[in-house]
Amino acid sequence: MNQIRTIKGTHDVLPDNSKDWQRLEKIIHKNASLFGYNEIRTPIIEEAGLFNRGIGENTDIVSKEMYSWVDRDNTTIALRPEMTASVVRSFIQHSLGNQSSLQRLYYMGPSFRRERPQKGRQRQFHQFGVEAIGSNNPEQDAEVIALGWQILSEAGISNLELKLSSIGSEDCRNKYRNELVNFLKPYKSKLSKVSQQRLINNPLRILDTKNKDEIDIIKSSPIIEDFYTKEDRSHFKQVQDYLNAIEIPFSLDPLLVRGLDYYTQTTFEIISNDIGAQDALLGGGRYDGLIKSLGGKDTPAVGFAAGMERILLAISTNKDNEKTRPIIYIVCVEKDALGSVQKIAKGLRSLGYNVLLETMRRSMKAQMREANRCDANFAVIVGEQENNEKTVQVKNLNDGNQETIDQKNLFNHFKSLTI
Ligand code: HAM
Repeated sequence: MNQIRTIKGTHDVLPDNSKDWQRLEKIIHKNASLFGYNEIRTPIIEEAGLFNRGIGENTDIVSKEMYSWVDRDNTTIALRPEMTASVVRSFIQHSLGNQSSLQRLYYMGPSFRRERPQKGRQRQFHQFGVEAIGSNNPEQDAEVIALGWQILSEAGISNLELKLSSIGSEDCRNKYRNELVNFLKPYKSKLSKVSQQRLINNPLRILDTKNKDEIDIIKSSPIIEDFYTKEDRSHFKQVQDYLNAIEIPFSLDPLLVRGLDYYTQTTFEIISNDIGAQDALLGGGRYDGLIKSLGGKDTPAVGFAAGMERILLAISTNKDNEKTRPIIYIVCVEKDALGSVQKIAKGLRSLGYNVLLETMRRSMKAQMREANRCDANFAVIVGEQENNEKTVQVKNLNDGNQETIDQKNLFNHFKSLTI
């Protein structure tokens, strides 16, 4: 019979790696709290229209990569390709803006894009992200970036690079888009098929090209900075001032193009040179028009999302070793004692020890071998004699010392140990 395997572009997280995930998740929860963000969890499936309208019908994410299908009741459903649109849907649906004029939210979970899998790019990947909904001030942009920077730094990634840009307000972008199209039109025949299509649908994406001839053409194209309004310019300058104040280094990248349509003004990415071609660990920006366009009140917002697999890829070579709590392995070769060792395990766990209890009924030798294999610090051994005398042998597996302890004193014994 054919063996069933994971679907292309999806991965199992095996026990050897799940500790790394938990460690990263802990860092995210901790820092989100330090910055005053509360967790929000939204469904993995949504009406496809949310993403069509939210991210933009002509983006690659929606037009080429989104998993969607017509459900039995004829609604078109999609696996979320990102979480910002879902968070905004939830913000509107539950009137979160009425509870507080500024909602600081964070989230993590799987997202899905049908991309060509490669190192750092999966079809099911995990994002964590934050959305600060309610403030249009530049200090909010700086706060969000600082939180992302802090999490990546604490996760242990040393070669971080923050790229910063502003794509201006809608007014500025419309003018710029027209100028860019006018500039590129005479070169149309020299553009790739994809870029020719983008010239109609999404001209700003052409700036993101990897095609050498197109890069040459773009070198002399108009730049968005020349189209900023006074407000755009001042907002962007203040974001930079605040980042300088908290000593987060950044470089300005006028060609930074994000793959989602909802951005206004500040956009940013944090990259690492250690993880190959898919180098963006985190991306985000301001999206002042999205809430209104999805049916909510006109509310400014800024946020980011980061790829958790990419972060783990970046730290797999230089992470600190996680300290595991002391492990006690309960070795039991006496059938009559199988009930009482359950009780011993329960008591030791309540003291905070990781307790492994033999359930394979192996020989004493095999159980001791197993205790060593899983790096246990202590073996608590119950044989026939110990069971009769209501004692246990406690063996320190680091120094080999062994002592007999009365079962009734066992918990106090472990309580008094300073490990
Ligand atoms: P995004 O740039 O599309 O932005 O994705 C954010 C991050 O998710 C990327 O920087 C990358 O690390 C990770 N990522 C994206 N696609 C994949 C993939 N196929 N495989 C592995 N990792 C991937 C957003 O999703 C926006 N919602 C960010 C945002 C939040 N903007 C404002 N608020």
